[in-house]
Amino acid sequence: MRAVARAVALCLVACAVGACSRDDAKPLPARVDAPALRLIVVADLEAVLEPCGCGVRPAGGVDRLVAAVDRLRQPGQPTLVLAAGNWFFDPSARDDALRAAQDSWKADFVGNLLSRLGVDVLAPGARDLGRAASRVRSLVQTVHGLGVVGAADARAVGGSAGVQRTLGATQLQITSTPGDAATEPTAQQLAGRAGLRIAVTEADADPVGLAADFTNADLVVQVGARNDVAGVSALPNGSLLVHPGRHGEGLVALELWPAARGGRRFRIVHSPPTELPAAERVVRIDTVRLDAKAPRDPAMRSLLDQLFARINAHNASLASGVEAPSGVATKPHALLVGSETCAACHTPAYFAWRATAHARAFETLLARGRQYDLDCVSCHITSGDDPAAELAGVMQRKGVGCESCHGAGSLHADQPHARTPTIARAVPEARCVVCHDREHGRPFVYAEREAALRMPGHGAPLHGGGSSVVP
Ligand code: HEC
Ligand code: HEC
Ligand code: HEC
Ligand code: HEC
Repeated sequence: MRAVARAVALCLVACAVGACSRDDAKPLPARVDAPALRLIVVADLEAVLEPCGCGVRPAGGVDRLVAAVDRLRQPGQPTLVLAAGNWFFDPSARDDALRAAQDSWKADFVGNLLSRLGVDVLAPGARDLGRAASRVRSLVQTVHGLGVVGAADARAVGGSAGVQRTLGATQLQITSTPGDAATEPTAQQLAGRAGLRIAVTEADADPVGLAADFTNADLVVQVGARNDVAGVSALPNGSLLVHPGRHGEGLVALELWPAARGGRRFRIVHSPPTELPAAERVVRIDTVRLDAKAPRDPAMRSLLDQLFARINAHNASLASGVEAPSGVATKPHALLVGSETCAACHTPAYFAWRATAHARAFETLLARGRQYDLDCVSCHITSGDDPAAELAGVMQRKGVGCESCHGAGSLHADQPHARTPTIARAVPEARCVVCHDREHGRPFVYAEREAALRMPGHGAPLHGGGSSVVP
């Protein structure tokens, strides 16, 4: 009785917004079981195992990711975990000998993570495949039961153009190739109401373009450039566009119920439905953001700590083997001499700088046991542009020193009164944003931040007057 009343009430609301059809008016099943299928989509980890702590994007951490996926799984309910995009390597990291061990251990860690998350299907990104297909191949082979799907180059890692899975009563088809006849779903799959076709793409296309490319897909998972923020929206053709988010900052989980009497279009609901519409599928979307409050998996946390400690110790031993250069040329002739050398003549500026976050930047890493981590040091020390100097320089050039901003100072220190300036006074925004980029640090407003650096003795008059430079 109650259910009928509710159905009528629902229909009145629906009719009021003009969405009511004859089908909807028919009595609906009174009780709806658990979703036919739960789909968990995670993308573009890019070897970011935890947030760096630099402030702007504090969410993430694979320990939180593991806890979230564990929480979403419901015993006895069919669940598919889909991983897409670049997982094993950071596309922005240099591919050099210095980083080899660090990057390789992180890639191994990601392989184990895929197993721990219970990933069923991986659609690897072009950067991972381009960087080390043979390495990725051996890594994916360690993941039990993993299906790998992708365009031509994914075949190099044992992938295929399309992967099928049967979960409960649902037949899933996962592809990443638009318009590929081999992966186009058959008419049977199209008609079968429990069929679900998922297309994964790295194409930087807008929704209209995606709908045109993947005409038969029910869900289009777009990773790469347009995948900054997790979310789900409807495409012009009625299918759903899924942005799973990246760097382990979040994920998208979908619960799906088939239409009571067949039908491809989706109705998005916010809580589990009590009735199923006749001709629409029902989907409930969970966009999970793994912020600082999200619980962590303790075992994964301790594995992470072990990994970072191992990387730090290994790189420290690399650094001790490198002859620390007496100076690193960042431009012809001038070498880095260190902030203490500047202090001799710019004493007030030096003490003003000592009180800033820049001077403490190395302690920030030290406190986390990451002072030799090549994901971190470049911006928290004064390295110049030479990667080898990053490690060798760690102990000598702690913190963001004078020369990070004003340039290498050996020529100037030797000849402070040279007629042609050999050191830069003004520090343009371009110099700051090498470090204050969009992945690291809070949003950067140059005028405000630059003003914060002008302190008495450094860009502002000394209290009580007097010269800030020892002549
Ligand atoms: C031997 C003393 C001495 C040392 C060492 C020294 N400076 Fe200077 N610096 C000066 C003097 C003197 C001036 C002022 C020159 C002038 O106005 O003709 C100056 C000027 C500057 C200026 C302003 C330049 C301009 O065009 O207005 C900057 C910036 C600067 N120094 C940075 C540094 C940095 C960074 C270091 C360390 C790498 C350093 N100095 C080391 C003596 C020194
Ligand atoms: C070599 C990398 C690097 C460069 C270049 C750099 N910064 Fe920074 N900056 C940092 C780091 C790292 C921190 C945070 C240090 C910490 O707390 O560990 C920071 C912190 C700051 C802070 C303090 C933020 C706060 O609220 O505590 C300001 C202000 C700032 N930077 C302004 C600038 C400006 C302006 C420039 C360019 C003129 C610049 N920075 C250039 C790396 C850099
Ligand atoms: C591309 C440059 C860059 C890299 C690489 C980088 N950082 Fe930072 N970090 C910054 C900047 C810039 C800030 C200052 C943020 C601000 O004030 O907006 C910062 C701030 C921080 C802070 C906050 C300090 C405080 O006391 O508020 C922590 C913690 C930190 N970084 C840790 C790390 C760790 C750990 C890594 C390596 C995983 C790392 N950073 C890699 C640029 C970088
Ligand atoms: C994060 C970037 C940054 C760091 C680190 C930094 N400075 Fe500066 N410095 C600036 C900016 C910005 C100005 C203002 C430029 C202007 O006046 O156009 C400035 C101005 C100066 C000037 C000229 C103005 C004056 O008051 O004489 C000197 C000299 C100077 N800095 C020396 C130093 C020394 C020495 C250190 C290290 C102890 C240092 N700076 C560290 C960014 C930096």
